[in-house]
Amino acid sequence: MRAEDISTVAVIGAGLMGHGIAQIFASKNYEVRLLDITDEILVKAIRNIRSNLIMMVQSGLISDDEVDTIIGKIRTTTRMNDMKEAQLIIEAITENLRLKQNIFQELDNLCLPDTILATNTSVIRVTEIAAKARYQERILGAHFWNPPYLIPLVEVVKGDSSSTEVVETIYHVLKNVGKHPVAVMKDVPGFIGNRLQHALWREAISIVANGIADAAAVDDVIKKGLGMRLPVLGPLENADMVGLDLTLAIHEYVLKHIDSFPGPSPLLREKVEKGELGFKTGNGFYKWSPEEMENSRKRLLEHLLDWTLKRKGEE
Ligand code: NAI
Repeated sequence: MRAEDISTVAVIGAGLMGHGIAQIFASKNYEVRLLDITDEILVKAIRNIRSNLIMMVQSGLISDDEVDTIIGKIRTTTRMNDMKEAQLIIEAITENLRLKQNIFQELDNLCLPDTILATNTSVIRVTEIAAKARYQERILGAHFWNPPYLIPLVEVVKGDSSSTEVVETIYHVLKNVGKHPVAVMKDVPGFIGNRLQHALWREAISIVANGIADAAAVDDVIKKGLGMRLPVLGPLENADMVGLDLTLAIHEYVLKHIDSFPGPSPLLREKVEKGELGFKTGNGFYKWSPEEMENSRKRLLEHLLDWTLKRKGEE
């Protein structure tokens, strides 16, 4: 299957990620099928897409009349059988290995063998997800980041059996819809982004657990300090910039003091056991009022919309 042969894209799972992924393809004129287990979830998904698009109109990213055209490209369904119509299917259901394996097994019986099947799993090895499927060479990872319609990165993960052709095709398709695909050459848990992200989170939690600083200080160090460089300077570019000799000297001294515990922090476990789940319960590393949570979400979206607008202006 070549990128130009793909005209219909199906997304399985219409939750936080699935609805946004459907929106990306509909916005670039693909026919989209969006599947979930109930009509209520699908109605909510379309409502969310509309509200994302309206925000994009308000930010000047798209025009008013595009909203209905984009939504018109998406057909929702609760029937797996409708997945047959797509040449590319992206699975974005709950992060559960067994459920995901079942979906890929079911698709074997429905789709033509050259239909490309991608999983949006955050951390599970693609090879494990594909393990029970018949045609494992057409299964690969396409890991979008939330919110997928605003964050350009998609990690393209080659499973142990994925064919090079399938990887190349999805690469082109993602570029066609304005995404920034990055190749993950070995199918390892967490791929690239979540390995980096959770190495940082582990140390952030460890600093708080060890009384080195409170949560606000840790977050300020990122937001007001080293995080300001990250959009234009990756860690390896940064290492080159300061010099690998200096990087070596720093690592010789400091790495042994950085957390390398091979499991979740006891502080994190304790908080979860106490029901301190963050936004879900209004209490986590911080206490959150409904207004504070709303403001935090709004700040993130405004930042991403501004960035997207600026990027559009530069194209
Ligand atoms: P979610 O819980 O918001 O959505 C999952 C959806 O899948 C639900 O609507 C559920 O009804 C549906 N579903 C479950 N079983 C199904 C089935 N058999 N057939 C059809 N639909 C089914 O979850 P979310 O956050 O959208 O995550 C989906 C996937 O994307 C997971 O693998 C997750 O790890 C990954 N992911 C999540 C990110 C995030 O920030 N939440 C970021 C990147 C990837």
